[in-house]
Amino acid sequence: MKEVLEAAWRQGCDAVSEGRVADYIPALASMPSHYLAACIHPVHGDPVTVGDAEVPFSLQSISKIFSLTRVLNVRGVDAVLRTVGMEPSGNPFYSLVQLEYENGKPRNPLINAGAIALTALLPGATGEQKCADLLEFLRSLTGGDGLRMNEAVYRSEADTSHRNRAVGHFMKHFGLIEGDVAEAVDGYFRQCSIEVDCRTLARMGLFLANHGVDPVAGTTVAEPESARFVNAEMMMCGLYDASGEFACRVGLPAKSGVGGGILAVVPGRMTIAVFGPALDAKGNSAGGLRLLEHFSNALNLSLFA
Ligand code: DON
Repeated sequence: MKEVLEAAWRQGCDAVSEGRVADYIPALASMPSHYLAACIHPVHGDPVTVGDAEVPFSLQSISKIFSLTRVLNVRGVDAVLRTVGMEPSGNPFYSLVQLEYENGKPRNPLINAGAIALTALLPGATGEQKCADLLEFLRSLTGGDGLRMNEAVYRSEADTSHRNRAVGHFMKHFGLIEGDVAEAVDGYFRQCSIEVDCRTLARMGLFLANHGVDPVAGTTVAEPESARFVNAEMMMCGLYDASGEFACRVGLPAKSGVGGGILAVVPGRMTIAVFGPALDAKGNSAGGLRLLEHFSNALNLSLFA
């Protein structure tokens, strides 16, 4: 496994120079672009890492799969489906266009609109309380209290993201946001700024590879149906308008973030967390995608065989 991972990492390193670090959230721009790291966490076995696997980065959109899981747990699938759809959007993560002609209902839980609407359903009245709830959930997945928000990244997005605010208010107009829209958007900014490293991220996602059960702690994190729901959404929408290409090239449920992380799930076998902050034009880690493609092909991991 280690040799295969290292070979895939070398391939990924060749693609790093093709990408650029996100700078539309100003605080992300200071991340050095050369990093590339990965951690494989088998369902049964010890993690294997390559590259800078202890460098912290913000979850950004990867947080959406964990807030979705938490909302499925506390509110149930019917509440989720009253709020968001299940279909691929084929549009960038920040897009508003479908909201206009679909009565403000987000196509799926993993585009920004869908995630903001679901953050509104997290326990707590304020953004701070909602993020605290999510942090507690994430800490229960890692068995520690090491996870933190990156305050600078949070403030930077909160100070600049008029687009996400617009998305929130647009949905509020259609009655799709429960409670105070400013607090829902604030909770979303906060959850996006939660920092992990590759090792932690691979550990956090293990329940998705194991029918909702954390195989290390032996605890039930989510119902098996919820884990299946999250994996299916990751497969169809996890990389937005690059999800189809990713399904063909890699063939695994995955979720990316503009912090440079990607979490991929091999159901029944393992999670793969990668980190490479140089992003391609669609906002996905350039080196991470190349690494995942080589790793998946070398081990025949695609769900489509
Ligand atoms: O809302 C945003 O723009 C960021 N907080 C997250 C976007 C993101 O990570 C998209 N994924 N690749």
